[in-house]
Parts: sequence; structure tokens; C-alpha cells
Amino acid sequence: MSIDKLLLERKSVRSFSPKHINKKIILELLNAAHLAPSAVNYQPWRFFVCSADEIKQRIRESYPRKWFESAPLYIVACADKSQSWKRASDNKDHGNIDVAIAVTHLILKATEMGIGTCWVCNFDANILKDALNLDNVLEPVAIIPIGYPSDNTSIETEQPKNRKSIEEFTEWM
Ligand SMILES: Cc1cc2nc3c(=O)[nH]c(=O)nc-3n(C[C@H](O)[C@H](O)[C@H](O)COP(=O)(O)O)c2cc1C
Repeated sequence: MSIDKLLLERKSVRSFSPKHINKKIILELLNAAHLAPSAVNYQPWRFFVCSADEIKQRIRESYPRKWFESAPLYIVACADKSQSWKRASDNKDHGNIDVAIAVTHLILKATEMGIGTCWVCNFDANILKDALNLDNVLEPVAIIPIGYPSDNTSIETEQPKNRKSIEEFTEWM
């Protein structure tokens, strides 16, 4: 798929079929994620692949939405604050940025494979940390529900993407 088509095809999927996502596919997604660039190449990401019923139930408690329950698999992407780069001039932690790029790789790869995803950040962090028994250095950045979309809309049938115009967000200097 061309990059232009991929970028148009990627969208937030909020309705999944129960069809199982096998380990080979998950490994392909993780492979795409780990090719991401990161500050000083520190790669401070940690991914929790959650397919067991008990853990999925706990994750759903951190983001209680009906649509979210339909996902057969969740990947929780975390930043390891003990491994992330902090800029010397102001100590800004770049872990979240690195994780966001890796998640973007994963999501684009999933799109290419016909697999639906959605960024979810509006979770209760305490419930999620508790569910995964996260070490204090691990900050959950996003939950990515993953599954085959239950409807088969694509760029041919979609509404145009609702985006600001280039003029609205660009200064030419
Ligand atoms: C950082 C981030 C956090 C998001 N958190 C949520 C969320 O908690 N729940 C949700 O339903 N969508 C969430 N989204 C999805 C956005 O609503 C969605 O990307 C946006 O409306 C554009 O639609 P599109 O992804 O279909 O192009 C999030 C997206 C990003 C990038």
C-alpha cells in the first residue's frame, strides 16, 4: 500500500469482530513498532500484549466504554522513565514521544494488514497500573484495542477526514 493510501486508510476503529489475532500477526505489529526512531536510540518503550480474559476485564475497567469491550486484544504501550532520554537544558522527558512514534508504526502496520486499532488515552491510569501491576518507572501512554473491524468501510466509502487546513496550522517564515 502506498504511504498516501495508508495514511488515508488509517482511522480509529471502534467496533471489532471477535476473530482471534494470532501471535504471528502480533509479532509483525511489534516488529513495526520497534523499528521506530527514539531519542538517543534509547527505545524506552514497553508493550503489554493482553489477550487473557482476566486481564482484558481489568483493562476494560480502566476505560469503561461499550465499544471498547468488543476488542479481542489490547496492547498497552508504556514509557519506561528509567530508560527515556531527558533533555539537559530543561530535563524534558522524551519517553512519551518515543512511545507515540512506536505506536504510530504499529498502527500503520496494522492498517496495512487490514487490522483495526484506536488510540485510547482517556483511561484511569491508576486502575490500569494496578491491572498490569506496573512498576513505578512505567507510565502507561496508550491502550491500543486491536481486532478485525466489524464493518468493512474503507476510503472509498468513508466521510472525508475532519482536519484543520494546512493554512490554519502552518507559519511560513
Ligand atoms: C493521543 C490520542 C489519544 C486518544 N484517545 C482516545 C480515547 O481515549 N478514546 C477514543 O475513543 N479515541 C481516542 N483517540 C482517537 C481520536 O479521537 C481520533 O484519532 C480522532 O478523532 C481522529 O479520528 P481518526 O483517528 O479516525 O482519524 C485518541 C487519539 C490520540 C492521537
